[in-house]
Amino acid sequence: MLRLAPLALTSPPATLTIRTGTPAELPALLAIDSFAYSHAERVEFLRHSLALGQCVVAGSDNEIAGFGILNYTFFQFGFIPLVVVAPFHRRHGVGAWLLEALERRCSSVKLFSSANSSNVAARQLFARSGFVESGRVENLDPSDPEVFYFKPVLGSRMSPRVNFELQH
Ligand SMILES: CC(C)(COP(=O)(O)OP(=O)(O)OC[C@H]1O[C@@H](n2cnc3c(N)ncnc32)[C@H](O)[C@@H]1OP(=O)(O)O)[C@@H](O)C(=O)NCCC(=O)NCCS
Repeated sequence: MLRLAPLALTSPPATLTIRTGTPAELPALLAIDSFAYSHAERVEFLRHSLALGQCVVAGSDNEIAGFGILNYTFFQFGFIPLVVVAPFHRRHGVGAWLLEALERRCSSVKLFSSANSSNVAARQLFARSGFVESGRVENLDPSDPEVFYFKPVLGSRMSPRVNFELQH
């Protein structure tokens, strides 16, 4: 039986707020995303997501503690391709808080995400946030399958598949 975690399970640091990221914040995102240092395509992906208003950031006035992205590229359902928390801010609930914020924004009845099988932190984060495993895909990264996660979006008023053109 599918058990759902309560939506408000996190207590983020009091000094942080969550808001939509702006294109001007690309350098701040790159500063906490080590993968982007060596992968130009990641930089372009972040730039694109910011331009479309698909990126939420958790931060204070002068610092970004983490960010997450929500789009509808996965069979037109809500999909979180990336959540990143700055090393200094990890294990303080920021990642769970970002997932919660993205879930609240999700306008489809199904929300998906994924992580490498070896990414224990991300997989534990999804499990703790009420996601359940939804299958694996081999051959993306060598010897490290991609594990997909699913969570039903309670209260969504949209049809099962949202229009491809829907933007956030
Ligand atoms: C995965 C990541 C986003 C987690 O962010 P975070 O802010 O540290 O996560 P939270 O503090 O909200 O943790 C919530 C729960 O997730 C689990 N968790 C988080 N990090 C974990 C770790 N390193 N090891 C085991 N469990 C972990 C725990 O259950 C944790 O609850 P607890 O602290 O009460 O035990 C962060 O480690 C990160 O940015 N990693 C690099 C980028 C990445 O791999 N992103 C995921 C791919 S999309």
